[in-house]
Amino acid sequence: MPKIFPKDFLWGAATSSYQIEGSLDADGRGPSVWDTFAARPGAIEDGTDGRGACDHYRRYRQDVGLMSELGLQAYRFSIAWPRIQPTGRGPGNAAGLDFYDRLVDALLEKGIEPYVTLNHWDIPQALHDAGGWPARGTVKAFVDYAEIVARRLGDRVASWCTHNEPWCISHLGFVNGEHAPGDKDLHRGILTSHHLLLSHGLAVPVIREHAKPGADVGIVLNLVPGFPASNSPADADALRRFDGMFNRWYCDPLFGRGYPQDVVDDHIHDGGLPEGSRADALPFVHPGDLEAIATPIDYLGINYYSRAICRGPEEGNAERIIAEPPEDIKTDMGWEVYPDGLRRLLVDVHQTYRPKALYVTENGAAYATPPSDDGRVHDTRRLNYFHGHLGACHDAIAEGVPLAGYFAWSLFDNYEWAFGYTKRFGLVWVDYDTQERIPKDSARWYRDVIAAGEVLDVDGYGDSRGDS
Ligand code: FCB
Repeated sequence: MPKIFPKDFLWGAATSSYQIEGSLDADGRGPSVWDTFAARPGAIEDGTDGRGACDHYRRYRQDVGLMSELGLQAYRFSIAWPRIQPTGRGPGNAAGLDFYDRLVDALLEKGIEPYVTLNHWDIPQALHDAGGWPARGTVKAFVDYAEIVARRLGDRVASWCTHNEPWCISHLGFVNGEHAPGDKDLHRGILTSHHLLLSHGLAVPVIREHAKPGADVGIVLNLVPGFPASNSPADADALRRFDGMFNRWYCDPLFGRGYPQDVVDDHIHDGGLPEGSRADALPFVHPGDLEAIATPIDYLGINYYSRAICRGPEEGNAERIIAEPPEDIKTDMGWEVYPDGLRRLLVDVHQTYRPKALYVTENGAAYATPPSDDGRVHDTRRLNYFHGHLGACHDAIAEGVPLAGYFAWSLFDNYEWAFGYTKRFGLVWVDYDTQERIPKDSARWYRDVIAAGEVLDVDGYGDSRGDS
């Protein structure tokens, strides 16, 4: 059966500011927490930072040309907050705003829909120094920033996202210290999650007020469907716990259910909240906060890469373990390739929370496949990854999920956070020395998929010289 998508399904690709722009000192940009974190010895696998990246800040026109050649209908990118407000407060920096203004115009000229994310992690360092996400004052700072950007771009941008992956900021940034700012403090992570959600909810009406009528405003979550390693009660509890901390802690309040008590109990157990804490009376949740967080959104964006197999504590081992996937189906990130997890996740979210619309705002795989002697990049494993996951999207639509579009992660190989330049997710190969771009086999396939509106067979696209 051919897997044909609805006519108005939106096909895109995604990137983020710190990962591709470079030019960190240009035009009055202030430092972000990622500049500072990347400078910490040992924080980044290859010791690099985002200063070179894809040099997109200077090459954006050429890059938009490439997007057009690939037939992209939408481009999801993020605004670097420190380009707009170098210290996170005060009036907008004209040169920074001008850059995104030009980018938006360049996209629209080519008929590509700009899909703007306001916070893809690079909060100004000065704002972090003044308290950052664990401090309630940052909520207002974010709403002010959102207003500055919406006032400037709102006449042309019809798709808005407040935050990208609040779990990653809260948990990787503040609880296990793998991301900027590198804290290890569960309580600060919990405060961060609340302030991210609250600032999202308060920004939604502000963006709507300044954006063109009918503009869509939403948020992007990285959701991970969990599966128990066995039928044991310990594994069932590991799954409950994982799903609570990762998925429900964010989805429940966004869709009007408040924070889940079982996750509050887990947080108490782990020392992040005081004994006796109640989900409906958390001291940092002020009257009106939950209503604000649950402000209706136009869509929910889901970033999906893999699933989690959850295993409970083993005899004599208090740690809860996420089981390792088999070696042969892992990407370079060590993540299992599991397309049906995406179908299941989309169906579950649709049935549980009923968002008006859903987008897959990121999905992709890291494989380092270099160019072959013929100068092309035969990334057969990535091709297969996209083939499987787009099939899963199609299956979800067939099951009634209002999935409105798909964004491949990523348009380019880029700076993969704590992994530096060691992981390549791009549809397009980037030579970081010369800044040459080579669309990979997966990009040629994706271009044809977009043109056909159908999940095409991968035969004839890969090549054994690559990584099949
Ligand atoms: C997501 C991030 C994105 C990229 C991919 C691989 O968590 O949103 O920036 O790093 O993972």
